[in-house]
Amino acid sequence: MEEMLVIRGGAPLRGEVTVHGAKNAVLPLLLAGTLTDEEVEICDCPFISDVEAMTLLMRSLGVDVAREGRRIRVRGGAKRASADGALSKTMRSSMFMLGALLATVREVHMPLPGGCNIGARPLDIHIDGLRAMGARVEARDDMLHCCADELHGADIVMRYPSVGATENLMMCASLARGDTCLINCAREPEIVCLARGLKAMGGDISGEGTSVMRIRGVRKLRGASLMPCGDRIVAGTLVAATAVAGGDVAIYGVDPCDIASVTDAFKSDHCLIDDDGVCVRVRADGRIRPVNISTAPFPLFPTDMQAQLMGAMCFADGVSVIDETVFERRFAHARELVKLGADITLDAGRAIVRGSGLTGGRLKGATMYARDLRGGAGLVIAALGAEGESKIFDIGYIDRGYERPEDMLSCLGADISRLPVAGVEAR
Ligand code: EPZ
Repeated sequence: MEEMLVIRGGAPLRGEVTVHGAKNAVLPLLLAGTLTDEEVEICDCPFISDVEAMTLLMRSLGVDVAREGRRIRVRGGAKRASADGALSKTMRSSMFMLGALLATVREVHMPLPGGCNIGARPLDIHIDGLRAMGARVEARDDMLHCCADELHGADIVMRYPSVGATENLMMCASLARGDTCLINCAREPEIVCLARGLKAMGGDISGEGTSVMRIRGVRKLRGASLMPCGDRIVAGTLVAATAVAGGDVAIYGVDPCDIASVTDAFKSDHCLIDDDGVCVRVRADGRIRPVNISTAPFPLFPTDMQAQLMGAMCFADGVSVIDETVFERRFAHARELVKLGADITLDAGRAIVRGSGLTGGRLKGATMYARDLRGGAGLVIAALGAEGESKIFDIGYIDRGYERPEDMLSCLGADISRLPVAGVEAR
């Protein structure tokens, strides 16, 4: 049954919220669990569709994986080299299987995941690194065929600090023969979280969180109980929502350092943000300072917060310039925001947003369609600040990465509900 979010703007947000485990930490940790025959438990796994889809994908590989409340238990590795074709084609995250499957089954056959709504999503950095470690990789008939009799350590210079490629190479290197050095690797908190998990399993890793990571292969990894880091993008989304709606919100469950680039972007005389190392507190009156921001790898402003930033800058007291440098097609939310009356001009990878605080215009509720996960979050943020009622369709995208967003926001005082779509309303 299709559902929509109905939001009436204008209500300030007040209260406390704890963000769930990070989607982008749980997904690699689940695959790390297949690197040993012993039981691995991943705690605080959010009830979001990307996690459910990953467990289905793993099960189609013959992995014994089961959810028990907020914990997911993985018992043993993959038994097959290829997942359910249709499933892995729909699942972007299937490319994260590459490393784990090569390290254990020594073979992977998967449909090339192809592009998605935000960009082409090539795999060259993954493939170059796996080849350097001794894998044979061939792309043929829309399929990726990989195999490796043995994996050995290598010094790998990554042309771009790809998050997924770093994670694949970490998992491969952990069970390879010899030492691997990843140069120009990703530094995201989710990378540090994966390294911590692999070390809890007996892995030998150092340098995580920096641009040079060293991994010494071990003969086998052991079972462990793994705790993902809090979801910094959900936390950042709450910062943006409070900045737009106004109010006083305390956000728990994430390291304030992990969202420093986001809180810096929203801080102003009208949006006071401070932390005590555990809780990030946002006190705002609803006025927004314009920004000039380029998305970039961690620790700079995350691409996964670009849509939420744009949703907020629609209300700013001036002109904002937002450059999306990570993905080539990540502005689909702009044309939806314009339906509220936002003034946004796109020029290649740049968005120029003339905020309503400058133009005197008023953003009014509208019917909008989510086009991707974070784009949908951006629409929710703008609807919180717009006058009147907004409806957001295709919220399945949002459910990929946010656990019951309507509950999270309504608990803070937002006027938001999830309703079934009557047949005539859609489209
Ligand atoms: C991860 O995707 C995240 N997904 C993304 O979050 C996030 O936006 C992205 O990292 C950047 O932070 C998960 O962790 C599941 P990349 P990933 O490889 O690993 C290019 C969300 O909303 N590239 O760091 O796929 C690529 O095209 C999602 O939670 C190559 O050219 O991102 C992109 O332009 C969306 N060749 C850039 O690098 C490669 O071999 C960054 O991609 C690999 C990547």
